[in-house]
Amino acid sequence: MHLITLNPWSETDILETVESSLNIKNHPEKYRHAVGGKNLCLLFQKTSTRTRCAGEIGITQLGGHAHYLDWRTTNFALADLSDEMRVLSAYVDIILARFLKHSELVEAAAAATVPVINGCCDRYHPTQALGDLMTIQEHLGRLEGVKLCFIGVHNNVCNSLIAAGMKVGVEVTVVAPEVNPAAVDKELWSEASRKGLYKTFDTSHEAVENSLEKVIAKSDVVYTDTWVDMEFFTDPAFAKERKRRLEKMMPYQLNAELLKTHKCRVMHCLPAHHGYEISGELVNDERSIIFEQSENRLHSMKAILLKLLAHS
Ligand code: CP
Ligand code: NVA
Repeated sequence: MHLITLNPWSETDILETVESSLNIKNHPEKYRHAVGGKNLCLLFQKTSTRTRCAGEIGITQLGGHAHYLDWRTTNFALADLSDEMRVLSAYVDIILARFLKHSELVEAAAAATVPVINGCCDRYHPTQALGDLMTIQEHLGRLEGVKLCFIGVHNNVCNSLIAAGMKVGVEVTVVAPEVNPAAVDKELWSEASRKGLYKTFDTSHEAVENSLEKVIAKSDVVYTDTWVDMEFFTDPAFAKERKRRLEKMMPYQLNAELLKTHKCRVMHCLPAHHGYEISGELVNDERSIIFEQSENRLHSMKAILLKLLAHS
């Protein structure tokens, strides 16, 4: 069993993982030897703080061992992807892979003979969404009927929130005047729309002026993420597009003025760019559950590792 996207996961798969994450957080001592010396390899093409640490520290706290591979220092960079994945599968019990391209990750998972977890590609970020549902359950005491409003660029994180949310009754409204081309997943969006659990907000100037406030007022959680994915942030070839996006997206910044009188919780997967998609003030606001959210990535990653190892 792989975790490349949450689209094929059932409601039970998701709810069990959330429940297991909360148990692990509350009783870490019970899980100290839970994986009995299993080995996790982290294979990363992109930078990471949370996902990498959650994987490395998580498997160690479960009694296993982590081995981190920076793609550029391996022969993955020059060899046949399937050959290298077969070899890696012979050395370790499970792989956490952060790839640039979803299609390449799918190819890698097909060649692997051990479970592969998507540690974020250009299309999905499933481990983020599972950790986020854990945080919502922890703070709101429920998932079904929760209203989450994602404001920003429709991206990998947004897709995984929709995929996870529609299985457990979380209603996701997306306010996104831009969609990352790699994140277009019409099948996912149609399925979630049919269930009434995914709506897009009209981003015309009038609608934003007149109705955004009303959407926020009805939301339990307001969520944002970077307007530019990490691999493009310092890429000179993306500089013009980055500038265009930053200018276009400024009216959608989450800040104290936009959330004025609202009691909603504020979430962000991090890393955050203060002064762009969110103000620094709001990151540290009493409505922000961002740092609990990022801590929960560790507990949730442990639950994911346990689930996939149990099914391998
Ligand atoms: N949220 C998240 O995945 O963070 P990292 O990129 O630091 O892993
Ligand atoms: N969506 C962003 C942040 C993920 C943690 C990205 O892919 O860079």
